[in-house]
Amino acid sequence: MTAMPEMVSLFNGMGGACAALISIVEFNHLLHDIENGGNAEGHAGKVLIIVLGLIIGSVSFAGSMIAWGKLNGKVKDHSFKGQNILNLIFLAIAIGGAGYLVVNPEHHLVFYGVLTLALVYGVLFVMPIGGADMPVVISLLNSFTGVAAACGGFLYNNKVMLTGGILVGAAGTLLTILMCKAMNRSLLNVLVGSFGGSAATTGGGSTSQGTYKEITLSDAAMVMSYAHKVMIVPGYGLAVAQAQHVCHELEKILEEKGVEVKYAIHPVAGRMPGHMNVLLAEADVSYDKLLEMEHANDEFKTTDVVLVLGANDVVNPAAKSDPASPIYGMPILEVEQAKTTIVNKRSMKPGYAGIENDLFFRPKTSMLFGDAKKVLQDLVAEIKSV
Ligand code: TAP
Repeated sequence: MTAMPEMVSLFNGMGGACAALISIVEFNHLLHDIENGGNAEGHAGKVLIIVLGLIIGSVSFAGSMIAWGKLNGKVKDHSFKGQNILNLIFLAIAIGGAGYLVVNPEHHLVFYGVLTLALVYGVLFVMPIGGADMPVVISLLNSFTGVAAACGGFLYNNKVMLTGGILVGAAGTLLTILMCKAMNRSLLNVLVGSFGGSAATTGGGSTSQGTYKEITLSDAAMVMSYAHKVMIVPGYGLAVAQAQHVCHELEKILEEKGVEVKYAIHPVAGRMPGHMNVLLAEADVSYDKLLEMEHANDEFKTTDVVLVLGANDVVNPAAKSDPASPIYGMPILEVEQAKTTIVNKRSMKPGYAGIENDLFFRPKTSMLFGDAKKVLQDLVAEIKSV
């Protein structure tokens, strides 16, 4: 699951490349027709679809390859002053060239010029986008690939390709909008504003932010065993540790002790939409125990213990209180309203957005360091003996 965005990106790039190749092949067929006496003007509609497929497919291919490289750490974020303006100029020239081709399809050099510009645009467009925004961009590129494939469906009068392309295009667009909404950001802000940083600190009792407290396993087991209500906040770290099954075990063992256990699900927790829902479903966690963010925020007031498992950005109070923070405005799980918060992660390193989390230094928060799976296994053993 954690490598999914990378794989989606690679597949998506291949789809874009296919759509662009179809356009190249069909353009050459068309040129052949014109050379054999066909009427160039009569082909305007077909050329329009060919160049649309070419531009959208090439942007999607080049952008997805950069996104794939960024997600596996081979490509770093890169931007320069005026990059957005340069990108827009490239795109405008490519669209202008496409318009010219619709009227003058015999100028094949213009066609290859448009192809080159679209590829360069795809690279430059994704290059500066920050780490935490990559899933949104991947979803956007996915919708581009759908539209490019639909152009292929038009060209071949192939209804399956057309319907498939439209479905992917529409689903990708909806997903993009939903992700932006969950992060409370506009698509424009995602595309031109960079989101993320590189602040990283390690544990040891204090950091540049101040001091934090640690809790022992036996204390954590005790606090949870005697609570009325425990809310688990799963995040990316739970998926990395593959600790969903032992998490379910913890839930069952607490319930046997009469503790009410629920899960608070943030819409962008993890790396893909629905990531936490799928992860917990894999471990047979009952769906009615999963609370959406709004409901969870209502219930934190009456919660005794919040157990944050490998989540970071989605519980960062800076999103509410610090206008200078790159995640300012993103709705978060307001775990601080609960009586106690126990945070499990391996160190004091930041999450995906690369920013420190003040929650870890708050008086009601205690840190329980370690790999989520190991910590949960030990916690289950401790609770059994309470
Ligand atoms: P993150 O903020 O990425 O934090 C995950 C935390 O898990 C890290 O701080 C890490 O700390 C910890 N961790 C890693 N491996 C662990 C392990 N084996 N055991 C225990 N802890 C471990 O995760 P989140 O709170 O789920 O937030 C998701 C991020 O992705 C947000 O920034 C969100 O905006 C972004 N995003 C998500 C989506 C979707 S659709 N899900 C879309 C766009 C953006 P240590 O290294 O110290 O262990």
